[in-house]
Amino acid sequence: MCGIIGYIGAQKATPILINGLLRLEYRGYDSAGISTMEKNGLSVMKDKGRVKNLYDLDGINDLEGTIGIAHTRWATHGKPSKENSHPHLDNSKTFAVVHNGIIENYNDLRAFLIENGYTFYSQTDTEVIPNLIHYYYSKDAEKDEFKLLRAVQKTCKDLKGSFALQVLSKDLPDNMLVVRKDSPLVIGKGNGENYISSDIPAILSFTKDFYFLNDYEFAILSRDKIDFYDIDLNKITKKIKSIDWNASAADKNGYEDYMLKEIFEQPNAIRETIGSHLPENERCTFENLNFSKAFLQSINKIYIVACGTAMHAGLTGKIAIEQLCNIPVSVDIASEFRYRNPIIDKNTLCIYISQSGETADTIAALKLSKSKGATTLAISNVIGSSITREADYCIYTHAGPEIAVASTKAYTSQVMLLNILAIYFAEILESTPYSEIVKIKNEILSLPAKAETTLKCCNEIKNFAKNMYQEKDVFFLGRGVDYNTSLEASLKLKEISYIHSEAYAAGELKHGPIALIENGITVVSILTDELLVEKTISNIQEVITRGANTLVITNKTLPSNNIDKIVPIPDTHTSLSSILSIIPLQLLAYYISKEKGLDVDKPRNLAKSVTVE
Ligand code: G6P
Repeated sequence: MCGIIGYIGAQKATPILINGLLRLEYRGYDSAGISTMEKNGLSVMKDKGRVKNLYDLDGINDLEGTIGIAHTRWATHGKPSKENSHPHLDNSKTFAVVHNGIIENYNDLRAFLIENGYTFYSQTDTEVIPNLIHYYYSKDAEKDEFKLLRAVQKTCKDLKGSFALQVLSKDLPDNMLVVRKDSPLVIGKGNGENYISSDIPAILSFTKDFYFLNDYEFAILSRDKIDFYDIDLNKITKKIKSIDWNASAADKNGYEDYMLKEIFEQPNAIRETIGSHLPENERCTFENLNFSKAFLQSINKIYIVACGTAMHAGLTGKIAIEQLCNIPVSVDIASEFRYRNPIIDKNTLCIYISQSGETADTIAALKLSKSKGATTLAISNVIGSSITREADYCIYTHAGPEIAVASTKAYTSQVMLLNILAIYFAEILESTPYSEIVKIKNEILSLPAKAETTLKCCNEIKNFAKNMYQEKDVFFLGRGVDYNTSLEASLKLKEISYIHSEAYAAGELKHGPIALIENGITVVSILTDELLVEKTISNIQEVITRGANTLVITNKTLPSNNIDKIVPIPDTHTSLSSILSIIPLQLLAYYISKEKGLDVDKPRNLAKSVTVE
């Protein structure tokens, strides 16, 4: 939700800022704007619409400033319009601010400021911030270099909600100030120049060295130094972290869309995620985990908590952990979990999955379980992200930067990592026969090659999509792990093709949804679980009898029995099968979206990283 970019250095800021915004556009794309420090004060250029529209704004090419802040918006308060776009200025035009997050008490603050003579020009929650900074700044009689820091600190103390802020002041023409609470912000350190971004990939081509701020930590950036302060304005030191992502990993590399590229990157993402966790003839290892048998035996319940696609990966993780470790696992949607007073104690292990590591609900759920005494383990794709700093333990998927809003390679990498984690637990607990563990490990190692094979269905799926793109409703069916994959496949289709779809556990069909099946409706089924194949085939026959068109993704040999299309995929262990069976369905969603002429990477109303509740 909303992307922010900042630059301070010797180069013209505008092209760097716009370039950064274009790379961050997956976070929000209804308006964009920049503010630069010009010789005659702060300039602000902004408008509704996509980032590229900034190139058409009058005078944008004349900006000379070498310090600037920028924003791409995902509207929360106030519809997309020029007035509501960021950056926002205070009434005296001394301060320019961009903000990601939500100020929950902005109505009270606005009323307070109006009482004190301030005027508002937008409907945003953000506009209170520059004015509140001005309020405190003008009341401070001191004239030292920390005056802005004090005003921003006081402002932050008044704000309820979440925020990542960049502040420019025309009184400090060689500095930029940033602070965060519950919204992402990274600082990239360059040589004689420094960068700010919501996410690492947007500035990866400039630097690989990053600082990560904790809640209520402030940074004052100059061209050649960065000073950090805590909430009481004590100077603090922060460690730099080097990120080993390749800058070109955040480019399209010849693919038409990021999503297609990321679908095809899956064999490698899975390979990288397996990494060195499965050494030959040895126990599975995780560098960051040192769980003892006694500790794991003390765990009587595991919660897996996440949002969206990550939650779907968790559903398959549940199957793997329950089967191999014999510990009950509940999977929860983070936004529900955090408000339903879950039963948690010191014998609970809570696993949080988040590609970005910045999803607000997932982080809040993690904080809740920590406060109740649980052990917390985060699974993330982004080193240094908020969730990895909050959790007791952290393990990583190595999918590389995922840019398309619809998640693909992060999902398959998460399912892979959860399976490896289940083996890690099972080996310590000695809860599964050794021979079975060896079998699964071998299967895991064969998965990258099997994913390559699965991708060969691409053209077949592309052709099938041509018959499907005008559909209004699509149903996905499966049982067991295949039901979990159905949920993810249905989400993919909704997200990028805007076709209504439902995923049902195939056995539930007769309890209601079959009433919706009529001539010509498409039903997609997934069949990989040996024990449940016969049952699902019966359900497919039931929908064929009622006139449905059927597509089946399977690793079994099926009688064709009037099925319209069967897409074969390689066989594998049940809890791993989602990694392969989702691939044709990711491609299906992709090609349907293309047939409809939609923007695959930036679907309407969605954002990659949901940093508000
Ligand atoms: C958004 C994205 C989804 C993602 C979900 C959770 O809705 O569009 O692709 O699955 O957030 O994101 P996370 O970064 O926590 O995995």
